[in-house]
Amino acid sequence: MHIQLDDPVDLDAFRGHARQLLAAGVSPDRVAWCGDRAGEGAGDLFGASDGAAPPAAAVAGARHAVPASFIALCGDVILHRDPQRFALLYRLLWRLAHEPALRHDPLDADMMQAQLMAKAVHRDIHKMRAFVRFTRVMGDDGLERHVAWFEPDHHIVEANAPFFARRFAQMRWAILTPERCVEWDGQALAFGEGADRREKPPPDAGEALWLTYYEHIFNPARLKVAMMRREMPRRYWHNLPEAALIQPLTDAAEARSQSMIDAPPTPARRIRAPIALHVRPADGVAPADLAELRAAAHACRDCPIGALATQAVCGEGPLAAQHMLVGEQPGDQEDLAGRPFVGPAGQLLDRAMAQLGWARDTVYLANAVKHFKYELRGKRRIHKTAAQREADACAHWLDSEISLVKPQGLVALGATAARALLGRPVAVQAERGAWLHERRDGRPVFVTLHPSALLRLADNERAEAYARWLDDLERARRFEVGPAAVAG
Ligand code: URA
Repeated sequence: MHIQLDDPVDLDAFRGHARQLLAAGVSPDRVAWCGDRAGEGAGDLFGASDGAAPPAAAVAGARHAVPASFIALCGDVILHRDPQRFALLYRLLWRLAHEPALRHDPLDADMMQAQLMAKAVHRDIHKMRAFVRFTRVMGDDGLERHVAWFEPDHHIVEANAPFFARRFAQMRWAILTPERCVEWDGQALAFGEGADRREKPPPDAGEALWLTYYEHIFNPARLKVAMMRREMPRRYWHNLPEAALIQPLTDAAEARSQSMIDAPPTPARRIRAPIALHVRPADGVAPADLAELRAAAHACRDCPIGALATQAVCGEGPLAAQHMLVGEQPGDQEDLAGRPFVGPAGQLLDRAMAQLGWARDTVYLANAVKHFKYELRGKRRIHKTAAQREADACAHWLDSEISLVKPQGLVALGATAARALLGRPVAVQAERGAWLHERRDGRPVFVTLHPSALLRLADNERAEAYARWLDDLERARRFEVGPAAVAG
């Protein structure tokens, strides 16, 4: 039998055919599958195509249950470019129906091959998320669009498009690939035929900015060439503007690291003397407004950190903001400026929010701990995580801030914030990405990474982790229920 699938990634169509073939008792060696796009068919083993499914009479009554994990596996494997994938999946389906022991055999060759294919598809999906680079172009209609060119290894465009629609919901964008193109007009996704590499848009001003940024964050002392090549394989380089910088930056890395080692210590900026205390908090009385809270937190000496910091850094943003984003504690720059998230972590947060079209001034940004804790090394102040008793002593300031701002949702950036908001230790990686409903005041809490965690990652890990973080933030922005919440 020759089965022609019109769409190479239509899982439902494949399942429909496979179910009918199985019910009619058609063994895998009697079926030739063809479902690929132009030029990569499986080859027609049985001559003329009849495209016909087995007669309905033969199908009637037969029911074969397969594990849910197999259906999920099919969903991944069908996206693989290998033309033999349909044959492999049907063979597995047949064998699951006829060999009950198969589902318990982790070393079965067919099963292992399918799992390898699923893994390759996942990797391709991740690489697309990490390596798509948009360029701004002005359309004939006067509307701005962001266009990217990408060459996936597998049929992943349809599967990956909703991710980009969520992430770049505010932009009009298109991703062109040799096989399929996808466009988002701000409302809906539209798919079309593949494009030619010559349609790739020329570089724009944003690209120059991105290259400057890349050069700036490239840390020669943390360079691990082998790992970088593994995570950012060369075949992606010709579509990555920053790839042209990799060789010169890599060549110069050793000398740059050496000069960093040889250089004398950077002279510290002058640290202002702590501001004199004017206000002492009245014991047990909650501040009436944010101004009172700021003054009282500034004077707080419930733990030793306050005495060493320049000032307390309370949150900022509109009263009644929908979201309150909570970080760990002010850093060196925040301590001097008296504003949260103005240093490197804040800049990364700003960049992510701008990419999501989420205006910083619509959210309330705060910290779990209000004073900067540091250790002096020479004249430099190096961030130190607050001890739990110090964070506990500070918790009532954050609670007061929450009561005054009354946000609809709280977003914990990192473990310290998550613990302050949920009142228990939180494993951020395990609990990130979903709204948790545990607070006594009924406010939901969304946990994700702290931006500093991304800044600490090795260069080759950052792009992918950043993409995932953006996805989290977008879900938080939309108050979207995440996977953990659904499961729980
Ligand atoms: N890190 C934080 O957690 N908060 C800030 O304000 C700055 C850096």
